[in-house]
Amino acid sequence: MAKSKVLVVGGTGYIGRRIVRASLAEGHITYVLQRRELGLDIDKLQMLLSFKKQGARLIEGSFSDHQSLVDAVKQVDVVICTMSGVHFRSHNLLLQLKLVDAIKQAGNIKRFLPSEFGTDPARMGHALEPGRVTFDEKMTVRRAIEDAKIPYTYVVANCFAGYFAANLSQMETLLPPKEKLNIYGDGNVKVVYMDEDDVGLYTIKTIDDPRTLNKTLNIRPPENILSQRELVEKWEKLSGKELQKISISEKDWIASMKGLDLAGQVGVTHFYHFFYEGCLTNFEIGEEGEEASKLYPDVKYTRMDEYLKLYL
Ligand SMILES: NC(=O)c1ccc[n+]([C@@H]2O[C@H](COP(=O)([O-])OP(=O)(O)OC[C@H]3O[C@@H](n4cnc5c(N)ncnc54)[C@H](OP(=O)(O)O)[C@@H]3O)[C@@H](O)[C@H]2O)c1
Repeated sequence: MAKSKVLVVGGTGYIGRRIVRASLAEGHITYVLQRRELGLDIDKLQMLLSFKKQGARLIEGSFSDHQSLVDAVKQVDVVICTMSGVHFRSHNLLLQLKLVDAIKQAGNIKRFLPSEFGTDPARMGHALEPGRVTFDEKMTVRRAIEDAKIPYTYVVANCFAGYFAANLSQMETLLPPKEKLNIYGDGNVKVVYMDEDDVGLYTIKTIDDPRTLNKTLNIRPPENILSQRELVEKWEKLSGKELQKISISEKDWIASMKGLDLAGQVGVTHFYHFFYEGCLTNFEIGEEGEEASKLYPDVKYTRMDEYLKLYL
């Protein structure tokens, strides 16, 4: 079977750039949207040009120009959107409704992967304010896709390691703590830590796979299902240094939201669901989904002791 042609929208973003690279590495003809609003952002432009050097085709367009999105979508079989959705960076998930309209009008798309790559929003109907906005908006986009009868795959990627593993799951740093750290409750709730490059690869592996058509791909490889304590142990073994652990009760963690800005409050509520409630692992993957490492056993996913070595 010929490999699908892919358009990545949001290709210079944190996860988007990895998906572009994986798409090229896996031999797909890869288009990347080059937004007219680029302006003087030389870093973005340089990244786009580096994709071009690697074989990507840049296609101009704008979310303010519906026809440009339709024209871009018409070039390809598969659209992957990696629109921003992290409050302390930028949060524009609902802009994707414009892309859904364009895909509906173009009528040629075999599969659309919207900007998800986190928690399964369909399981977060009970989520706390204000962080629930992320899940609610992702559900709004899902509904629009399904109403328009666009074939889809939703990628649930769990905790990106750069945000959650490197810092031993501390909220205000991206680096491993040197002396002490917060432990959420008893620290034994299982989460899933994923190297972002592996997320990119699994995402591309799935786009032509009939087993994930109109399903959720949950990236939850067994050896990366770890508790916070297990992750910390790996780091202590690598670094040869034991850290002081301060256990925070559920109540105190929620209370720590007070006085934080919106991005901080969103973070606290997301951490609550992951590390106290266990929302990433407290369910079996049912008929609505597939687990990535089972479908693609050839992918040698990065284990967290390997990942953490970079931070020594
Ligand atoms: N699982 C996890 O731990 C985790 C962590 C982080 C993010 N995520 C999820 O991953 C997804 C992508 O997040 P990210 O952090 O990779 O995003 P990001 O890097 O902040 O942004 C991605 C792209 O969004 C596009 N964008 C932003 N504002 C726009 C606007 N006004 N109009 C048009 N395009 C705009 C830009 O595309 P251009 O390239 O065209 O400029 C940008 O590169 C989100 O759904 C997020 O929730 C998950």
